[in-house]
Amino acid sequence: MSNKSKQNKSSQDKLIIFDTTLRDGEQSPGASMTRDEKVRIAKALEKMHVDIIEAGFPIASPGDFESVHAVASVIKNSTVCGLARALEKDINRAGEALKPAESSRIHTFIATSPIHMEMKLRMKPDDVLAQAVAAVKMARNFTDNVEFSPEDAGRSETDFLCRVIEAVIDAGATTINIPDTVGYNIPHQFGELVGTLIERVPNSDKAIFSVHCHNDLGLAVGNSLAAVLNGARQVECTINGLGERAGNASLEEIVMAVRTRQDVFSCDTNLDTTQIVPCSKMVSGITGFPVQPNKAIVGVNAFAHESGIHQDGILKNRETYEIMRAQDVGWSDNRMVLGKHSGRNAFKSRLSELDINLDSEQELNEAFSRFKDLADKKHEIFDADLRAIVDDKNWTTENEYFKLVSLRVCSETGETPNATIVLEMGDDEVATNGTGGGPVDAAFKAIENVVNSGTQLQLYSVNNITSGTDAQGEVTVRLEKAGRIVSGQGADTDIVIASAHAYINALNKLQKPDDREHPQLGDV
Ligand code: KIV
Ligand code: ZN
Repeated sequence: MSNKSKQNKSSQDKLIIFDTTLRDGEQSPGASMTRDEKVRIAKALEKMHVDIIEAGFPIASPGDFESVHAVASVIKNSTVCGLARALEKDINRAGEALKPAESSRIHTFIATSPIHMEMKLRMKPDDVLAQAVAAVKMARNFTDNVEFSPEDAGRSETDFLCRVIEAVIDAGATTINIPDTVGYNIPHQFGELVGTLIERVPNSDKAIFSVHCHNDLGLAVGNSLAAVLNGARQVECTINGLGERAGNASLEEIVMAVRTRQDVFSCDTNLDTTQIVPCSKMVSGITGFPVQPNKAIVGVNAFAHESGIHQDGILKNRETYEIMRAQDVGWSDNRMVLGKHSGRNAFKSRLSELDINLDSEQELNEAFSRFKDLADKKHEIFDADLRAIVDDKNWTTENEYFKLVSLRVCSETGETPNATIVLEMGDDEVATNGTGGGPVDAAFKAIENVVNSGTQLQLYSVNNITSGTDAQGEVTVRLEKAGRIVSGQGADTDIVIASAHAYINALNKLQKPDDREHPQLGDV
């Protein structure tokens, strides 16, 4: 490594975490989030001490603008970022959305690879360079924290990248982000690219170098870490690796790799890693994208030892088979905390130990009443149950059009299951029946018999929140209608009731107008 790279590396030993769950993560088909859901996730990211939260792409739609504005209004300890193509209208919109932020960043980008410039932008390289410089200057009118990305840098020519990067740093960019937009790169090559850019761009010491890797070949984390070894000091990532196509680099893997292998990486993040698992669960619950059991760090099996030899080793010395402690990434020991006889104070104090803050006494009373209902059905109430009680409230927003009043299902050997449902639809109460292949199918058919939503069921999944046959089932339903995809969630000890809640939750989301236009990222 050259002197310049070494200098860059040792003088900045903090690795900045730039989370783009709310922007690139949301670009996963079916992962769209409401403004309130984005605010909840942003607060969880802030609590985890994420440095920068990319809250959205304000020009994309009025809804995206509102979400960035709402996040910018409530977040105080993280920088809030908005994405903008290298266009005046995008930058103005991002600047406007970020106005309330205590600390803001505008992230502007334009493609620099030959294929993108020629086939998509239909622009000459010199014009791309000029547009990049103009965009950075415009963004500087709103904030002195400006990030520039040469989109598809992973397939761009190094000489041209050097020219563009030097020019945008001169124009005022303070972070240079190198995206592997299509997930094409291989770690040693991507690391070398970042090292070469830091080495060759004459004013590279005036900016932080960042990377943004996609996971098309399963290498997003590997590529990002290779870049860190070559001087990158910001990584763009998402919770659970959510993101376009195969996703982005996953935040939890980057953060824990760097933290666990301090002998290899001469930098570390500021993150409170105990917030990782709660945040992962929140994102999975909101988006309806389940986390695979064997997913590193946040999968339910990530710290489970099945083989006798491993269990024996762990009992003798944890480090024989464990390189991280489950508690350090936020897995709770899931101990039984409360039961049927627990009072309101015990409930309240366990919520505050879990860092779950309800906004008002009324919300606390409502949550306590849901807790009592659950305790009647379930002997032992675990931490995960408490989180689900609170989440269930979050899924059920005020002023919903459809509400489940009651559900009765009859399922018998040799008979076709049938369901009777009473639904509130606006001001009316409607009773409906349906039959189906199983009790859940019958319940959905009954709902559809009156709603006629015209949707296609894309996904139905059930996860048990804790173990045991009396566990609550957390159901996710994903519905598609005319290209629009929404997810609904519900939780109950009765999975048919949880399923009906999830289905109705998704239908309520479809009731709300879809204002997303989603211009293509490279559509400059
Ligand atoms: O993947 C990509 O290139 C992007 C840019 C906007 C950074 O998401
Ligand atoms: Zn991306």
